[in-house]
Order: sequence, then structure tokens, then C-alpha cells
Amino acid sequence: MVFVMERLTAVSDMKAWSRALLKQSRTIGFVPTMGYLHEGHLALMRRARAENDRVLVSIFVNPTQFGPSEDLNRYPRDLEGDAKKCSDVGVDALFLPEASQVYPPGFQTYVDVEEVSRPLCGASRPGHFRGVATIVLKLFNIVAPTRAYFGEKDRQQLRVIMAMAVDLDLDVEIVPCETVREADGLAMSSRNAYLSPDQRKQAVCLHQALLEAAGLFDKGERNADRYVRTMSQRIAQEPDAGVDYISLVHPETLQALTDVDDAAVAALAVKIGDTRLIDNMLFNHRSRKIQQT
Ligand code: PAJ
Repeated sequence: MVFVMERLTAVSDMKAWSRALLKQSRTIGFVPTMGYLHEGHLALMRRARAENDRVLVSIFVNPTQFGPSEDLNRYPRDLEGDAKKCSDVGVDALFLPEASQVYPPGFQTYVDVEEVSRPLCGASRPGHFRGVATIVLKLFNIVAPTRAYFGEKDRQQLRVIMAMAVDLDLDVEIVPCETVREADGLAMSSRNAYLSPDQRKQAVCLHQALLEAAGLFDKGERNADRYVRTMSQRIAQEPDAGVDYISLVHPETLQALTDVDDAAVAALAVKIGDTRLIDNMLFNHRSRKIQQT
């Protein structure tokens, strides 16, 4: 039998697909994306494939999470390439909604996850997490997933979605997935496609700064400023790198730390030329392991 992955665009068709499965008590694993898929996305899909009866992937470049001067219009797209990758990892259906149906005239309801949206990317991208939380809640309502998979690469986004799921009593299990990296350590991202070959080489500085911070944590460094200084010095070595933020934060609240105790997250956003890249790493003494995510 030839396996054919379904493609759905209408919200009503998507709802009918998921409701039919739920009636048969099938589990649905959901991976929301903005497309231009890479191994990071595919790792989420493989995990969803292993843990659920059906896997659904959405591709939607969500306009409400982009600021007015951001890259909405030039965000990379490759629908046919994406569909092939999804089909190859055994995705059952692709949801490809139209912006006009997701945000029809008169749309006026947004989700604001307050505290955890404020620091880090929330400070430099006002409204970004409001757009993310809104689209993710809408997708959850349409898809009714059993589990939804999110990457730790976007750790603040993951925290925002987790807070929303708890606060709004959502019936979906949020599954965090480790960051997938290129051979030299650069975190995979659709935006890496914007980098010139020379910028691509410089971009490895984000991961290297995080590894230097991991070294400090291993040695028991407690002063958060020293982590920030060490990471800043590594970033400053690259001619095209401009810092948006470099911070050491609490793993759950994402509030900046002054003293480092059992656990911390080092997080940074750096522009390489015009391309803004983010990365982070969790350090945790209790698990006696540095998780390179
Ligand atoms: P997008 O950037 O396409 O990412 C989709 C999912 O893939 C997110 O959960 C993200 O954290 C995960 N991901 C991206 N790069 C990864 C990597 N290198 N390793 C592991 N996971 C990775 O994030 C979004 O889209 C949007 O904000 C979305 C949640 C779809 C809402 O519009």
C-alpha cells in the first residue's frame, strides 16, 4: 500500500480529521512549525511519531509574531521540500492554513502570558510572544492534540507555552525536545539560510560562548556577571556580531540571576550582520550533567 500524507488547509477539515481520530481514541502528536524544515524540526516529528498513533505537522508563517521591521516577508519557504521531508519521517497529515482564515477581518482576541514573556526575546521583540501564544492556542483548539512537541532551542517560547497550558487548563501534554545542532555546534534554524558563508563561520560564536559558560559552571563559578562577561568576550571576537542580549537566568522564571546556585540557563541573542540568532544552554548540578541544549 502506498502511503499518502494528507494535506489540509481549511480549519473545518482539520477539525473533522482530528475529531474523527479522537472518537476512535487515537492519540495525536502535533508539531507546529513555520516551515523551511531542518533536522531540528524533523527530530520533533520523529519523537512525535514514536509516541503517538498519528502525527500532524502545521506549517504557518504566523504574521502576529513578527514585528513591523522583522523578516515576515522574506521568511524562507519551501513547501514541496517540506512536504517530502514530513512524508519521509512518517507524518500522517500536514495542516497548511491560510492567513486570511486564521486571522479573518474582525479578529481581536490575543493571549498574553505575562511574566515569562517579558525578559530576553520579549524585551527586544515586543508583542512576539503574544503572537506565539495566540497562534499556538488557536492551533491547539483546531487540532486537539494529545501531545505537542517544542524545541528547547526556543526555550523562552517553550516556557511561555508551558505556562499557558497550565494557566488555561489545556488538555495537551507539552513535550520539550533537545536542541539539534550542526557539526560545528551552530543550533539549526531556518534563519541560518540568511547567512553568507563568512557569516556562517562567525555564527558558531553563539555555541562557543555557551560552552565557555558551561566551563565556568563546571568549575563552580557563582558570579553571574562573570558568565556574561566571558560570553560577551567570545562574541566580540567576530567582526559582524552585534549583541542583542547575553544573560544568565533562572531555568523556570527566566529572571536574570546575580548568584548561580544549582541550575541556570545561559541565553543569548546575537545579530550576525542582519540575521538575528538565538541559542541557550541549561546547566544543572543536581543532574550532574550539563545539558547542551
Ligand atoms: P519554528 O521556528 O519553525 O520552529 C518550530 C519548532 O521547531 C519549535 O518548537 C522550535 O523550538 C523547534 N526547533 C527549531 N529549531 C530547532 C533545533 N535546532 N532543535 C530542536 N528544535 C528546534 O517556533 C516556531 O516555529 C513558531 O514560533 C511556532 C511555535 C510554530 C508558532 O508560530
